[in-house]
Amino acid sequence: MFSRRLFLAGSAASLWIPAMARAASGAYHFTLGVASGSPRDDGMILWTRLAPDPLKGGGMTPEPVNVRWRLCADDQMKTTVREGVFTTSGREGHSVHVRVDGLAPGREYWYQFNYGQDESPIGRTRTSSRNDPSAKLALASCQSYESGYFTAYGDMAKWLPDCVIHVGDYIYEGGIGTLGVRMRDLGNGQRQAFETVRLHNSAEIVTLWDYRNRYALYKSDKDLQAAHAAAPWIVAMDDHEVDNNWASDIPQDPEAQTPLEFQVRKLAAFQAYWEHMPIEKPPVIEQLKSKIQLYGKYRFGPAQVHLLDTRQFRSDQACGDNRKAPCAALDDPKRTLTGAAQEQWLLKELSASDAAFNVLASQTWFSPFRYNEGPDDDVRNLDQWDGYPLQREKIAKALAKADGTPVVLSGDWHISGAMTLHETPTDPKSRKIGYEFAGTSIASHCPWAGDMMAVRDANPHVTYLNGQKRGYVRSTVTAKDWHTEYRVVTDAGVVGSGVVTDAEFRTSEM
Ligand SMILES: [Fe+2]
Repeated sequence: MFSRRLFLAGSAASLWIPAMARAASGAYHFTLGVASGSPRDDGMILWTRLAPDPLKGGGMTPEPVNVRWRLCADDQMKTTVREGVFTTSGREGHSVHVRVDGLAPGREYWYQFNYGQDESPIGRTRTSSRNDPSAKLALASCQSYESGYFTAYGDMAKWLPDCVIHVGDYIYEGGIGTLGVRMRDLGNGQRQAFETVRLHNSAEIVTLWDYRNRYALYKSDKDLQAAHAAAPWIVAMDDHEVDNNWASDIPQDPEAQTPLEFQVRKLAAFQAYWEHMPIEKPPVIEQLKSKIQLYGKYRFGPAQVHLLDTRQFRSDQACGDNRKAPCAALDDPKRTLTGAAQEQWLLKELSASDAAFNVLASQTWFSPFRYNEGPDDDVRNLDQWDGYPLQREKIAKALAKADGTPVVLSGDWHISGAMTLHETPTDPKSRKIGYEFAGTSIASHCPWAGDMMAVRDANPHVTYLNGQKRGYVRSTVTAKDWHTEYRVVTDAGVVGSGVVTDAEFRTSEM
């Protein structure tokens, strides 16, 4: 038995970074670290997965095994609050999802797993509380393993958030790139250098075996493991956890995948997502169709967070997807980004909320963005809320009517953006109703940053844009003020780069 706790000197609370130790020999079982998630006022989910050979299916034989777990009131693991044994097997990839309840609201706990002679790293977690006077919320998305190191997560772990909100693209499904820097043609005579710093472990992923090994590759990153071990997360997938720009039952490239092939791919993708995330419920399968519950409400003192799922229940992208001028299909009132059930849930939660801030955590930008100037029809990104304008108007009205101040946190687009929200979203002269803070990517490139900077003036509601830098967003919320800092990595292509604040905003001053 040996301890895997490493203290990072200098922080007020201790930070636990998983040690490599026996992982290299392939025998250590906690190579993917630990995580907690779905924080409630009386408990949370504690997660790990046994994977002595992480990149080859995990390395466990399929039969059931018992994993011991312990939750303590102190970071020395001296005062046990709850403990138990969790039985897992190859059917769930030897993942562990322990639901702990009956805890006190608004306080920290520490947890650890044991299997055989192996001890997991110790994780810190925290119950939520509606009575907390303030909240520390981190926002992350888009972590292309090949495009950069996850340095931003090391900085996030040191901050010790109350919760990390991940709005998708936790993995990318593509195949193996080519190491090194290459120039990419961005159109309009622009060329930009993009770097591939490390490589994926297989061709494009399709099967459960593939998806498991891809999650294991991403989760081998020590900064990502540190961020999971530092705070509970709430997570919802975007497109790359399955396939680029998929919508409900429709793949991006229906000519390359039959509906049945895509259905079977979704079964694998959803199962692997469940196996690797600290979420409450596994996918439900009915006649080869897989559904997974990701949207939900969480309360952190002055902030009520509505985590949305804008991928699983959406209408297909209109007008052929991507950046386009509008076509008639956009005005179909039946078009939805959330599906009817999720919309009804959201409208009900907003009308009942008594929080100072009503947060939408959305995969894609809620605010509009025009990619052209002048009198021509607006060109917009139709994969985002811009492609679902009537539903967006309905939700904007509900946000405006609710008591609290609306704040949208979003990702997807690999560019930091701070903007004001308006009652008629596409009319920046209409009444200001709230704010949106879009996060850049943890590591993914932003080939469209130049296009967006060139049309800043056509988007007067956007007060800040930066697509050059990778990073994350952190927000400190009190009943009176929402303070957001854009933390960016000096160079995500270099191990150990610094992380600095690029810009900060207070909603009381925007
Ligand atoms: Fe992305």
